[in-house]
Amino acid sequence: MSIAAEPPIDPNRPSTARIADVFLGGTHNFASDRAVAARAIELLPEVPAIARANRAFLRRAVRYAAGRGIRQFLDLGSGIPSANRVHEAARDVAPDARVLYVDIDPTAVLYARHQLESDPGAAAVHGDLLRPAALLDEPEVQDLLDLDQPLAVLLSGVLHFLPDGPDLDAALAAYREAVAPGSVLAISHVTPSDHADLTERFTALYNRTETPLTPREPDEVARFFAGWRLVEPGLVYCPEWRPDPDDEPVSDPARFVTLGGVGER
Ligand SMILES: C[S@@+](CC[C@H](N)C(=O)[O-])C[C@H]1O[C@@H](n2cnc3c(N)ncnc32)[C@H](O)[C@@H]1O
Repeated sequence: MSIAAEPPIDPNRPSTARIADVFLGGTHNFASDRAVAARAIELLPEVPAIARANRAFLRRAVRYAAGRGIRQFLDLGSGIPSANRVHEAARDVAPDARVLYVDIDPTAVLYARHQLESDPGAAAVHGDLLRPAALLDEPEVQDLLDLDQPLAVLLSGVLHFLPDGPDLDAALAAYREAVAPGSVLAISHVTPSDHADLTERFTALYNRTETPLTPREPDEVARFFAGWRLVEPGLVYCPEWRPDPDDEPVSDPARFVTLGGVGER
């Protein structure tokens, strides 16, 4: 199924999803993606560690939601998960968890569909998260998700690729209004504070691709949780969000430049 017209995969145009796959040590990428990733790592050797910390935050947020009784997950801008896949993390806690992956990048959707072929509790669709009405109305989405029951909406590492504007505000409001009480919103987002030098280098690199980066100050990221109650410890650097007991302590979490938070309603 495709909610938006699905463009062909172009191996010569670097894609955000495939570049992230390189950082995570995945194999679903092309030379054009590896060239951008190599340049990124040259400029900012921390990038693979930042990508891993982001996925680890996502895994902990998913397990938190599943622990709260949530059995359905809507992963918006899901990418090419080479590590800490959402359906696996959720099912560690709740084996009956259902997951809908959505991405605007056809490579991400293709790979996810291939992985989920024989999984009746998970699906991947091509779509634009900025068009929530079209997305939530699709029969395949309605078959998998029950909006009368609590849902976890996951926006991991994606909002910083979307510019400010009425489309973004309206989309976030639409997801908030669509979900039942007891639902959860998890967001991770690049921020410029504390280590502005790191984010400037990161931003300059992405600004040369088709997906410029919009790092946001913590208060701007917090604004995305309007209408949700942030759970403890609030909006913090990803490694600081409810670390697992056996996670290695991180001496300078701000070097991870990505904030993570979870809200409930
Ligand atoms: C850096 S990746 C993050 C992937 C994954 N969520 C994670 O945390 O590892 C960002 C993803 O968002 C997707 N994306 C960007 N804009 C989108 C949009 N408007 N709708 C859906 N997906 C989008 C990109 O294609 C890419 O796969």
